[in-house]
Amino acid sequence: MAKDSALRGPWLCCVVAALAASVSPAAEALGMNWGTQATHPLSPKIVVQMLKDNGIKKVKLFDADQGTLGALAGTDIEVMVAIPNVLLDLMTDSDNARDWVRHNVSRYHFDGGVNIKYVAVGNEPFLASYNGTFDKVTLPALKNIQNALNDAGLSDVKATVPLNADVYNSPKDKPVPSAGTFRPDITDLMTEMVDFLAKNGAPFTVNIYPYLSLYLSDDFPVNFAFFDGGADPVVDNGNSYTNVFDANFDTLVSALKAVGHGDLPIVIGEVGWPTDGDKHATYVYAQRFYTGLLKRLAANVGTPLRPNKYMEVYLFGLLDEDIKSVAPGAFERHWGVLRFDGQPKFPMDLTGQGQNTMLAPAKDVQYLPKTWCVYNANAKDTSKLAENVNFACTFADCTALGFGSSCAGMDAIGNASYAFNMYFQVQNQKDEACDFQALAVPTQTDPSTDTCHFPIQIAAASSTSSGHRRHSAGSLGAAALLVLALIQLFMLH
Ligand SMILES: *[C@@H]1O[C@H](CO)[C@@H](O)[C@H](O)[C@H]1NC(C)=O
Ligand SMILES: *[C@@H]1O[C@H](CO)[C@@H](O)[C@H](O)[C@H]1NC(C)=O
Ligand SMILES: *[C@@H]1O[C@H](CO)[C@@H](O)[C@H](O)[C@H]1NC(C)=O
Repeated sequence: MAKDSALRGPWLCCVVAALAASVSPAAEALGMNWGTQATHPLSPKIVVQMLKDNGIKKVKLFDADQGTLGALAGTDIEVMVAIPNVLLDLMTDSDNARDWVRHNVSRYHFDGGVNIKYVAVGNEPFLASYNGTFDKVTLPALKNIQNALNDAGLSDVKATVPLNADVYNSPKDKPVPSAGTFRPDITDLMTEMVDFLAKNGAPFTVNIYPYLSLYLSDDFPVNFAFFDGGADPVVDNGNSYTNVFDANFDTLVSALKAVGHGDLPIVIGEVGWPTDGDKHATYVYAQRFYTGLLKRLAANVGTPLRPNKYMEVYLFGLLDEDIKSVAPGAFERHWGVLRFDGQPKFPMDLTGQGQNTMLAPAKDVQYLPKTWCVYNANAKDTSKLAENVNFACTFADCTALGFGSSCAGMDAIGNASYAFNMYFQVQNQKDEACDFQALAVPTQTDPSTDTCHFPIQIAAASSTSSGHRRHSAGSLGAAALLVLALIQLFMLH
């Protein structure tokens, strides 16, 4: 800190001011979802440096991991920490909520600590497919957490509940945004929640996925998923909707209005486009989607019901995650604007000026050796091939092999090579992980094709075999924070 203030000469102040002036409001608004459901997550330090290199000023997390928060300390990046759904029940007890806030928010609240702005209470807890599992616990948890924040003197930190867009809809016989209401089974719950959010100056957080509209229905007009026109507009009370994002957003605005809070701020907790695992999950579509979205955000276009309004948006997501559940679809593991190793996939301009260039990649990533594992051309007994491929794909990510995916259309041998290599990499290239009953051999020749990439995993401090190291990295972050906190105390005296 001392070093930092010493650097802050008068000349630096003016350079910073000039830079700040040139940053568009959209860049200020843009955030990233940083999920870590990966066998080999990049180290938080590397990710934070990459966020800085790309001018990303906000992140949304799915937990309050110490190692992650330690790496974010001192950066000024705004952070949304989260309470996973499984902990909601616990948070219905106000003492537990107080403990959670103390351990995961207050502790980081000091000059040079972490700029925590929101606490996400649960993640899409009212998803229809959860059958009401979290209906009773979410609102009490939300109230306890916000009250604990307020009591701790942290009322600027807002508790909010990221919800799936399935909590509201318009009636089938009047499918227009102005007819939006909350889902009948949770109307009372949503009304009480919205009242509480409004009273505390907290935003409504919603995840909107035009991609899923397209994925779930073959009849969905493709152009309506994007922002560059070409779809028949939906006309509603004189408003013309040319994309499903606006229509969906305004359905929420109407639902809020129907419960007396038409002006409640809305944060887009997740929006994005995956790049593999389905015929519509391609680089071309993803680039088209982001180009349109980011331009509109930069221009503060807003929607017909909230025109010319700045929108706070978190893209989903930052990095591919190879152990996410594929229950929603094989595309789930391919939402990153960057690959699992922090390498950009396609050009994009986060400032929405249409200057599409590759994002800054993660730096100093350590990879395993350039060794792949492929089908053994000299294999004698191939009767167990399918069984072995199946085994590999149970413990590694083979979603790129499916219909419409980047590695689809290979023959059985190509499939086997891909599966064996994915398993071998997940196992950190252990010798015994490239055998498969003598059906596999290691190779130094890259088996990738034009469309199908055979990856080499990263040798991160946080690879699967080193959950232990990951833990100690976390403690180190905590120790550093404690030292910073003590320095802060000292300076106050
Ligand atoms: C958050 O705080 C609780 C204490 O209430 C603690 O048990 C938990 O480990 C903390 N979570 C994280 C991710 O640090
Ligand atoms: C919800 O109910 C459906 C149908 O009864 C069932 O298939 C599904 O497993 C349930 N999901 C949960 C999370 O309980
Ligand atoms: C390759 O694997 C995919 C995904 O498991 C499967 O759908 C396809 O039929 C396989 N192709 C061959 C030739 O075995």
